[in-house]
Amino acid sequence: MFDTTLRDGEQSPGCSMSPPQKLVMARALAELGVDVIETGFPASSQSDREAMALIGREVRDPVLAVLSRCLAADIETSVRALDAAARPRLHVFLSTSPLHREHKLRMDREQVLESVHRHVTMARGYLDDIEFSAEDATRTELDFLTEVTQVAIAAGATTINLPDTVGFTTPDEIRAMFQHVIGNAAGADTVIFSAHCHNDLGLAVANSLAAIEGGARQVEGSINGIGERAGNCALEEIAMVLKVRNAFYNFDSGLDTRRIVPTSQLLQRLVGMPVQRNKAIVGANAFAHESGIHQHGMLRHRGTYEIMRPEDVGWESSQMVLGRHSGRAAVDARLRALGYWLEEEELRLVFKQFKALCEEMRVITDADLQTLMLGSPASDGYRLASMTISDIGSRANALVELSDPEGNRVAETAQGDGPVDALFAALAAATGVQLTLDSYHVHSVGVGADARGEANLGVRYEDSAYEGTGTSKDIIEASALAWLDVANRLLRQRGNIENEHVATA
Ligand code: KIV
Ligand code: ZN
Repeated sequence: MFDTTLRDGEQSPGCSMSPPQKLVMARALAELGVDVIETGFPASSQSDREAMALIGREVRDPVLAVLSRCLAADIETSVRALDAAARPRLHVFLSTSPLHREHKLRMDREQVLESVHRHVTMARGYLDDIEFSAEDATRTELDFLTEVTQVAIAAGATTINLPDTVGFTTPDEIRAMFQHVIGNAAGADTVIFSAHCHNDLGLAVANSLAAIEGGARQVEGSINGIGERAGNCALEEIAMVLKVRNAFYNFDSGLDTRRIVPTSQLLQRLVGMPVQRNKAIVGANAFAHESGIHQHGMLRHRGTYEIMRPEDVGWESSQMVLGRHSGRAAVDARLRALGYWLEEEELRLVFKQFKALCEEMRVITDADLQTLMLGSPASDGYRLASMTISDIGSRANALVELSDPEGNRVAETAQGDGPVDALFAALAAATGVQLTLDSYHVHSVGVGADARGEANLGVRYEDSAYEGTGTSKDIIEASALAWLDVANRLLRQRGNIENEHVATA
């Protein structure tokens, strides 16, 4: 299981992560049991180089991979970035399809073969674990794909990845592609073949399974299926197919499937992007039975409408709650279950915050703990000091008071067609950030009288998409926190705000 949440996943709109956030996620992926973590694309950004260094120092069990183009400078940067890794892998790629050769690379077949040979040889000169990806493999002529594979193997590649870069293939087609290349490329029996499927037609998981049937023994994907455009193959889905239909596939993902839901929820919080309620395995409705007939069946026999147990993917444990009588060990255990491994001093500080929260709330849920760990959504940059909403005829008036990144007070008022409209207008006036709202959802998290409102916002700013989340007992306040979460992410990305609070996690 090759996880690319931190590379391909992080490339998707609204999913960018800072180096400390990537470290938090990498620790959780290691606990989940993935074999390989792709941490980023070091030649593309300083942030990816920093993330690789942070992760390399701490996450020692899984192989750590970084992506590199077939360029000498990229390979050198990647090798340097991998310096701290206990088990480094260099992942080099080059497009092979006629469309990419002509329009992207402006190279003919011979030039592609020569570049693959030269750069895989160079990479292998530095490291023993080399993955080569033939980008857009599924739209490449089979004879040429076989030749490229042969050249990459002869040059020293140890894993050959044949990606469905644009999510175009079908299960029958990709199965046949793997069978053909594995059956015809010299040296195929000395390497591991890998599938990397995108979800443009909703077939990423089905295609990855068909690739396994065709001989692939590594599957690349991401948690919650995040990734370029419609995303990558969702690793949690592959893992559960292999578990639930083990009699058919006879393969084991090796993942600790009870870590799936906590890992998925951690990612949702880190990038501020919730999964849809009906998302397989990790969506809120994945194990909910609403209709009377289904409930009746379930009461008679669980197997009538459930093919796997929610606790086997980690749902049950996420219902546990803590309160004012909970001790430090219980809080630590719960945080670990949620994917946060804290040093002694960090735990002491978080426990103090936990105790303070217990003064406000009877029950502390996982969602509250996660909010605590990631900081109040507005804990860096602009912070909400107070807000007042009042009706003025058919319109609403909002007064917000913020503290800005330097700690100065800023107050603004604005009117709108309702409380949320007025609130967002006042926040825009106070911060000077104009956001175009794409989506706005509110729902409750937690249990009973202690339930809290969570607001999720999707916005557009200068052609980029951003997501933000806010949680509060008051849904209007949750909306303000979500708005500030987005604005602060955006400002941070533009370099206006430094340090991420999540560094403590
Ligand atoms: O989709 C793709 O082809 C990729 C490669 C770089 C592996 O992400
Ligand atoms: Zn990809």
